[in-house]
Amino acid sequence: MTGARIHTPRVALIAALDQQDGIGRNGGLLCHLPGDLKHFKEITTGHCIVMGRKTYESLPKGALPHRTNIVLTSSNAANFPGCIIARSLNEALSHCKKDPLFIIGGGEVYRASLHLADTLYITRIHHTFEGVDTFFPAFDPAEWELVEEEHREKDANHRYGFSFLTYARKDQ
Ligand SMILES: NC(=O)c1ccc[n+]([C@@H]2O[C@H](COP(=O)([O-])OP(=O)(O)OC[C@H]3O[C@@H](n4cnc5c(N)ncnc54)[C@H](OP(=O)(O)O)[C@@H]3O)[C@@H](O)[C@H]2O)c1
Repeated sequence: MTGARIHTPRVALIAALDQQDGIGRNGGLLCHLPGDLKHFKEITTGHCIVMGRKTYESLPKGALPHRTNIVLTSSNAANFPGCIIARSLNEALSHCKKDPLFIIGGGEVYRASLHLADTLYITRIHHTFEGVDTFFPAFDPAEWELVEEEHREKDANHRYGFSFLTYARKDQ
C-alpha cells in the first residue's frame, strides 16, 4: 500500500477489470479469484450495495449477506428475496442513509453512476480475456488520484495476478 492519505468514500464503484477494462462474459464474471472476493467482502460488508438486475441474477446464492442489497430494475413484477428494489438510481440512493455506499455493477449500472462516484475500487486482473461482452466505462486518469495500490502474484489459488487500486476523485 502506498497509503498516501486517508480517503473515506461516500459513493464508490467497486469492480474487477481485465487489462482491456472487461468485466464479464455470458452473464458471469471473467474468472474466480478468491483473494478478490475476500477483498470485496471486507470492503462492502455492513454497507449498502447497489446492483443491476443482471448482476443480481448472476449471484450464485442471491442477496449478499450482512449488506443492504439494492437491485435496480424497470420491472414492476420483480421480487428478489432479501433485496430492496429500486426503479431508478435516485431511488436506490435514497435507501442508503449512511456513507459509504457501493455500486457493485454491472456494466450498465457502472456507466450510469460513474459521475456520482468519489472513489473507485478497481481490481486490475493481469490478463486479457477472450469473449468479453461487458466492460467498465472509460474513466479519465486526469480526474482521479491513485491513493492505494497493492499487488498480488498468481499462485495455486489464483490463476492470474492482480492489483487492488483505489482511486479518489481529485478536487473533492
Ligand atoms: N467484474 C466485475 O466486477 C463485475 C461486477 C458486476 C457484474 N459483472 C458482470 O457484468 C455483467 C452484467 O452487467 P450488465 O451491464 O449486463 O447488467 P447490469 O448492469 O448488472 O444490469 C442491467 C439491468 O439493471 C437494470 N437497470 C440498470 N440501470 C437501471 C436504472 N437506472 N433504472 C432501473 N433499472 C436499471 C435493468 O434491469 P431490467 O432489465 O430488469 O429493467 C437492466 O437491464 C455480468 O457478466 C456480470 O458477471 C462484473
